[in-house]
Amino acid sequence: MTYLEASRRQAEALRAREHVRILALETSCDETAAAVIEDGRRILSSVVFSQIDLHELYGGVVPEIASRAHMEACDRVLDEALAQAGLTLPGVDALAVTYGPGLVGALLTGVNCMKGLAFAAGKPLIPVNHIEGHVSANFLTHPELEPPFLCLVVSGGHSHLVEVSAFGEYHLLGQTVDDAAGEAFDKAARVLGLPYPGGPRIDALAEEGNPHFLSLPHPKLEGRYDVSFSGVKTAFLNAVHGMEQRGEPLPKTDLAASFRFAVCDQLAEKTERLLRDRLAEGQRPVLALAGGVSANRELRRRMTALCEGLGLRLCLPRLDLCTDNGAMIGTAAYYQLRRGAVAGLDLNAVPALRFV
Ligand code: KG4
Ligand code: ZN
Repeated sequence: MTYLEASRRQAEALRAREHVRILALETSCDETAAAVIEDGRRILSSVVFSQIDLHELYGGVVPEIASRAHMEACDRVLDEALAQAGLTLPGVDALAVTYGPGLVGALLTGVNCMKGLAFAAGKPLIPVNHIEGHVSANFLTHPELEPPFLCLVVSGGHSHLVEVSAFGEYHLLGQTVDDAAGEAFDKAARVLGLPYPGGPRIDALAEEGNPHFLSLPHPKLEGRYDVSFSGVKTAFLNAVHGMEQRGEPLPKTDLAASFRFAVCDQLAEKTERLLRDRLAEGQRPVLALAGGVSANRELRRRMTALCEGLGLRLCLPRLDLCTDNGAMIGTAAYYQLRRGAVAGLDLNAVPALRFV
């Protein structure tokens, strides 16, 4: 029997098991993270090793440095996740790894590490889409949450409004026509001379600033639920460069607050439109947020006010589960396992893996 055939049989047997423990690894960008998740809902351990200080010097993630750092950290982070869960490898039922989207070298490090481990231990390996991981962070924060629900996915590379119709089933409703929200935050931060990663820094500065200091464009788009951040970004860059050329000091808190307001305003407007459309159809949708930008304070406040106003339920991921972590990968893997998704030893990294 091949490894894949044996894995399929094991996966089938695990569906009938009362408890399933998954050891998951995430290495798609600049965090080496591992976790042990029980039944898709309980975090037995979660270890995140951030490489931020390695990349800060360069103002962004350097792919080659990221791959090497993942290689050096993988073993330690996996060992620590097992130790914190009070387990050894034979005590977990399956392994899981992010295979895309992300940096190819970074993904390959994790994929190869977990293929070797799964083969040696004779355990099934579950391939996980990183963005599906972000959405699944909500299952850890809200143990009773089940599809169907609507989800605003806002990360470094994605700004999507989707419908989660079942576990592992997504339908695209709207998306950015250009930059992702996180990418826009990072670029705006760079213009203000803030270190990488810029999103959290803009968010912190913005708390002290005037969101109406600078009026930024609000694009008109064809897609009913689409967003666009490229015009906002360019207008922001021009305004900052203009101030610099005139020798004016940069009111960084006001600039950060204005930019954050413009981004969150668009996201809130399109989400509100979607929720109102669904209400008009007689539905009472649940809304969830996912991805690194869902840690943004203004976005969380806006969405909270919106859902309270409409009398709808809002699910926000716990702050430490908004950005990259292994726990969300273990949760997504649990539901993929139930659908029978197991990888063979030919599993490859897919840098541009689609989510919807
Ligand atoms: O989801 P994530 O960890 O990585 C991707 O899968 O892309 O998101 C990282 C992105 C970065 O662009 C970062 O600047 C942004 O999320 N981010 C934030 C905040 N925290 C992280 N953006 C705005 N406000 C925040 N508080
Ligand atoms: Zn991510």
